[in-house]
Amino acid sequence: MRKIRPLIAPSILSADFTKLGEELERVKEADLIHFDVMDGHFVPNISYGLPVAEAVKRVTDIPLDVHLMVEQPERFLHSFAELKPAYITVHYEAVTHLQRTLAQIRELGVGAGLALNPHTPLTGLKYILSDLDLILIMTVNPGYGGQRFIPAMLDKIRDCRALTNGYPIKIQVDGGVSTANARQLVDAGVDILVAGSAIFSSPDPGAYMRQMRAEGD
Ligand code: DX5
Ligand code: ZN
Repeated sequence: MRKIRPLIAPSILSADFTKLGEELERVKEADLIHFDVMDGHFVPNISYGLPVAEAVKRVTDIPLDVHLMVEQPERFLHSFAELKPAYITVHYEAVTHLQRTLAQIRELGVGAGLALNPHTPLTGLKYILSDLDLILIMTVNPGYGGQRFIPAMLDKIRDCRALTNGYPIKIQVDGGVSTANARQLVDAGVDILVAGSAIFSSPDPGAYMRQMRAEGD
């Protein structure tokens, strides 16, 4: 059985935006703050962008984990990199010259992440493994918080773990993640659990995140 303590990244998409500062205080034990940018084109929803990310940065020292659910994400790499996030993640389905884009993220001093929608195969990844710091396996179709986890993604995570064997690449999951499936996910090979509604709807997000982490023990 794989024993690792996963990193926990609350997605502030599920936070109460009328009191974002207080919400960030509730997740002060987080390892990363997951920041979902949606453009209304790549996904059928619009969330928030740079000004909100800057505000988040002003009230927390926890590194950001920027998930760009946008078309042509190359346009935004420089501005988000100025916030010195741990990762900037672009979508496989949104980028034509993927190797170049990943290299650009690294040149900006940021970890290069690649997200895959549920139906997107892992196929081409073997040629760009050395350009990757993180692979985000979407466990829902991106666009909304609070959706149901797609169980078939467990196989994809196992395949991804086998594919990245020997490379220092983190595997992250996003969508429908909670204490109910955290152990299965870690066993399958996940290093970073993103969770929005599960964490923010908890009366004690700190305790909830500790419980998620302990699932790797
Ligand atoms: C979905 C976003 C997620 C979302 C997850 O498109 O990328 O980060 O906030 O929310 P939950 O954990 O509620 O499924
Ligand atoms: Zn996300």
